[in-house]
Parts: sequence; C-alpha cells; structure tokens
Amino acid sequence: MLIYDRQLQPQIAPAATAAPPAPAEETAPVIVADIQDELGRSVCKDLGPTTSSFIHCDVTKEPDIKNAVDIAVSKYGKLDIMFNNTGIVDDPKSRIIDNEKADFERVLSISQLASHAYTASKHAVVGLTKNGAAELGQFGIRVNCVSPYALVTPLAAKNFVKTQGEDLEKAFSVPANLKGVHLKAEDVAQAVLYLGSDDSKYVSGHNLLIDGGFSVSNHSFRMFDYSFA
Ligand SMILES: NC(=O)c1ccc[n+]([C@@H]2O[C@H](COP(=O)([O-])OP(=O)(O)OC[C@H]3O[C@@H](n4cnc5c(N)ncnc54)[C@H](O)[C@@H]3O)[C@@H](O)[C@H]2O)c1
Repeated sequence: MLIYDRQLQPQIAPAATAAPPAPAEETAPVIVADIQDELGRSVCKDLGPTTSSFIHCDVTKEPDIKNAVDIAVSKYGKLDIMFNNTGIVDDPKSRIIDNEKADFERVLSISQLASHAYTASKHAVVGLTKNGAAELGQFGIRVNCVSPYALVTPLAAKNFVKTQGEDLEKAFSVPANLKGVHLKAEDVAQAVLYLGSDDSKYVSGHNLLIDGGFSVSNHSFRMFDYSFA
C-alpha cells in the first residue's frame, strides 16, 4: 500500500515489490506501507529519504492502517491518494468442495491468489470501488481500481505458475489476447498514476482493465485467428 500527497507531482511506489518507482521527475511525498520491512525500507532508500518513508503495516490489522494514515497526515499535513496493492499467495484450491470458510476469510482480508476465494476477493474489490465512489463523491473523493492481466511478480512466480522470469512471461503470453508485448509492473504503475492524478479528475467508480483485451475476447472459435482461416 502507498499513501501520498499530491502537492508535488505524484510518484508511484506500490507495495514494495509490485512496481518500481516512476522516473525521478515525478516525485511527491510517499509512504510505503508493507509487512516486508527490509524491502520497504530499501524502496524508500531508492526513492530518497526526504520524500519517502516506510511504515510497517499489516493490512489485516486495522490499527496498523490507522497508524499509517495518521503518520501520513502528521508528516505531510494531509493525505491525497491511497493505493492498496497488497496480495498474498496460498494453495490454489480449484475444487469448490476443498475450500473452507477460513480460506475465504483469509483471502477477503487481503485479496489473494487462490481460485474461488481469489475470484470472490477480486469481485469484492470492484463492488467496493463502486460503493466507495457512490458514497464518497460528495466529499470530492474518487475511488477506482485496476484489473491487470497476469504479470511477473514475486506473487505470480511463487504460486500462479511454478516458473519465473522470462519463462513465466512466456507462459503468460500464450493465452494473452494482445501479442507482441508483455505486461510489466511499470504499466500497472502508470495506470495507477493516472487514476491518482488530476488527469483522471472526473473518473470515479471505475475498474480500469489493463489486460490487453483479454477479458473482452474469447478465442475458442478462432474466428479472428489469421493462421486458422
Ligand atoms: N501478479 C499478477 O499476475 C497479478 C495480476 C492481477 C492482479 N494482481 C494483484 O495485484 C496485487 C499485487 O500483487 P503482486 O503480483 O504485485 O504481488 P507481490 O507479492 O509482488 O506484492 C504484494 C505486496 O503485498 C504485501 N503484503 C502481503 N500481505 C500484506 C499484509 N497483510 N499487509 C501489508 N502488505 C502485505 C507484500 O509484502 C508485497 O509487497 C494483488 O492484489 C494481486 O492479486 C496480480
């Protein structure tokens, strides 16, 4: 999760590992909040100590979140943008009968990669985004979310497909709709940067798909497949 002030140009430094910092010219005070202390601190070191700081924060613990928000406000005077990018992995349980209530509770407390529970958690994010936008618009607060296609991150490498690096990227490219390009963490960061900036000042309640058309295409009939015609 990151929290930052938009008085300066916004800066993206999603939860520790998910995406690298944006270029140096795009800087603003940022708080990186994560459970990975060492990694979080090293991200802040890269960003520069004057405009960034790390706070240990477990998003399943409300006092931790309150603490992160309080520190952001006391340090920078206000809080403009929050980006929740947390995620964890668990054993995928593709058969619904194997899924227990505790799996869903754990997943929904964070948002996780675990088949049915994962899907439930991601739908919940979209629903909450819409509800949040409906309630908070009266205060000038916008609420949006992003839905990326699969990309190489520690989370994906650990559990999604048990391979990593370029091999994993290649594996993801096979079912991808958009060919000739791979989705990178930087691409997700740029989308979040847009949603967090005034460039999207009238965008709220939106789920921004960053999936190269994957979710709007079904190639089963191979209707558009040039090699099949
Ligand atoms: N990698 C993909 O293919 C992919 C695709 C679509 C959506 N997503 C979603 O993007 C988000 C980020 O995933 P990622 O792939 O970058 O994973 P990642 O493992 O690289 O990053 C997740 C971050 O969340 C932090 N985290 C985990 N539990 C936490 C907790 N309780 N409190 C605070 N921080 C916690 C981790 O320390 C880590 O820094 C997740 O919600 C994931 O479901 C990932």
